Amino acid sequence: MGQKPLVIAGATAPEIVTLLEAINDDAPTYEIVGFVDDDEARLGQTFCDYPVLGGTGLLADKLRHCLVVNNVAKTAAIRARVFKKLRGIGGAGFPSIIHPRVSVRRATVGDATVIHEGCVIGPGAAIGENCLLSFHVIVAHESIMGDAVLASPGVILNGRVRVEEGAFLGAGCIILPYRSVGAWSMVGAGSVCLEDVPPHVTVFGAPARVIQKKEPVAK
Ligand SMILES: CC(C)(COP(=O)(O)OP(=O)(O)OC[C@H]1O[C@@H](n2cnc3c(N)ncnc32)[C@H](O)[C@@H]1OP(=O)(O)O)[C@@H](O)C(=O)NCCC(=O)NCCS
Repeated sequence: MGQKPLVIAGATAPEIVTLLEAINDDAPTYEIVGFVDDDEARLGQTFCDYPVLGGTGLLADKLRHCLVVNNVAKTAAIRARVFKKLRGIGGAGFPSIIHPRVSVRRATVGDATVIHEGCVIGPGAAIGENCLLSFHVIVAHESIMGDAVLASPGVILNGRVRVEEGAFLGAGCIILPYRSVGAWSMVGAGSVCLEDVPPHVTVFGAPARVIQKKEPVAK
């Protein structure tokens, strides 16, 4: 079977390229066509040796035969908005992009979710769509992650944790077993969540405490 053409939306974070190249090293899977980006200043440039071909509108036209990966992760809300927009435009689908040495046996992973090297996904885990799991994220057995969750490097979700849609998990934070993180909340780097985190708040520290209530995210 030939390599499927794939476009990266967002010429921002370079890790997606090394991830796709690792997948191709393992088994030739994607032909990386280049980037689309609505920042006109990027047009005509290259990023990680691949061309920035134009705006996202190309997915309805010249690039509509291409698979698409959402590479925008400035915040969970922005990632969610961009995904909604991309889906509305076109392209040939949004596959999950999973490092070849990450096993997702007996787990489920939604479309458009990106899982980087070193992650461990336990049996019975369910990861939603359009999530981003950076390097070395552990999602232990039967943990559930909603859509558009951003998990920074080294996050640990212990067993049967529930993380709701749009939550941001800072680097190295730990969520204890059976605890939950509410929708669109932020957990600071290095935090240890001993209790449930309500929705729309920022917490940090060990033990993590609420420091700020956020405005609800408009979807
Ligand atoms: C929790 C967080 C979101 C708060 O950001 P913020 O609202 O801009 O907070 P500030 O940087 O203004 O810091 C406010 C106070 O909280 C403290 N603080 C901030 N983050 C903290 C953390 N993770 N743990 C402990 N204390 C923290 C600061 O020292 C500061 O204390 P002070 O008022 O006594 O000086 C942020 O600090 C954080 O941890 N982000 C995650 C970053 C990350 O992991 N990125 C991954 C990139 S791949």
